[in-house]
Amino acid sequence: MKSKHENKILLGDVREVIKIFPDLHFQAIITSPPYFGHRKYSEKSSSGEVGRESNPEQYIENIRQIFNGLRPKLKDNGLLWLNLGDTYREKTLLGIPWRTALALQSDGWILRSDIIWRKTNAMPSSIKDRPTTDHEYVFMFSKTPEYLYYADAIREPHVTFSDKSKMKGGRNHFGKRDGTPENGKNGGNSNLHNGRWDQAFHPNGRNKRTVWDISLGKFRDTHFAVYPEKLVETCILASTKEGDLVFDPFMGSGTTALVACKLGRNFTGVELVEKYKDMAEKRVSPYLKQAKLV
Ligand SMILES: C[S@@+](CC[C@H](N)C(=O)[O-])C[C@H]1O[C@@H](n2cnc3c(N)ncnc32)[C@H](O)[C@@H]1O
Repeated sequence: MKSKHENKILLGDVREVIKIFPDLHFQAIITSPPYFGHRKYSEKSSSGEVGRESNPEQYIENIRQIFNGLRPKLKDNGLLWLNLGDTYREKTLLGIPWRTALALQSDGWILRSDIIWRKTNAMPSSIKDRPTTDHEYVFMFSKTPEYLYYADAIREPHVTFSDKSKMKGGRNHFGKRDGTPENGKNGGNSNLHNGRWDQAFHPNGRNKRTVWDISLGKFRDTHFAVYPEKLVETCILASTKEGDLVFDPFMGSGTTALVACKLGRNFTGVELVEKYKDMAEKRVSPYLKQAKLV
């Protein structure tokens, strides 16, 4: 169903704004809320901004309320992708991403996957008493056990078995150079693309794994945590088709909207701070024509 909010970013606290959307409206929700205690996005302290709570419990409670409010708005066959990073306090890692994920799970969201986004170009750090953190989480939640997931749209290259491969041996073709059925001595044998062979040697690559190596995005404004286009692209391709509507309740600089347009999807966003809403609109406007209203 078309709505007047398609391809728009609405200004306000998401807790208020979401009330205007009909139920079962969005095909996917893809978002990165502010992390606990990381940044101040708004100049006002009493603005309803998430991430500035005085303790982790209150932060998790706020996130929980927001996503409980959003659950009816997601189609029953839709997916929620939630990107979260962690926070240290007095040398202690708080474990916020998992604590939040488990809270949402106990509220009825089905936790289908914990994806590690490994930042391949993470900033060097001066830390010497623990490993430098170079990952964040992306939790994939569904509303129901049956949902739309386009595995073929996000396949990744097979590991090719070379002479040096540790997986050499055990199957006829494993020991051969470049020995997948496509390239090796069994190339062209269609029997190998059924059943378990299909899993291992699907012509378009293997099923997507849970560690995603993605470099930080190029668009970096002064004090802004922007997630990379590639990360959003993977989530959109896996959970929507052209013309579908993607929602981001914490729109920030508009990465979700931008990628949605580029892939011929539609978006709706909410952003609390006017200057970021303006920034996002400016960033997205050259691509608006690519969004596909159906
Ligand atoms: C981590 S940033 C999102 C960045 C975004 N993914 C991007 O790539 O540009 C989080 C955003 O949520 C906004 N925000 C914080 N509290 C909010 C609330 N209650 N309602 C709506 N937006 C909020 C902040 O102003 C900030 O722009």
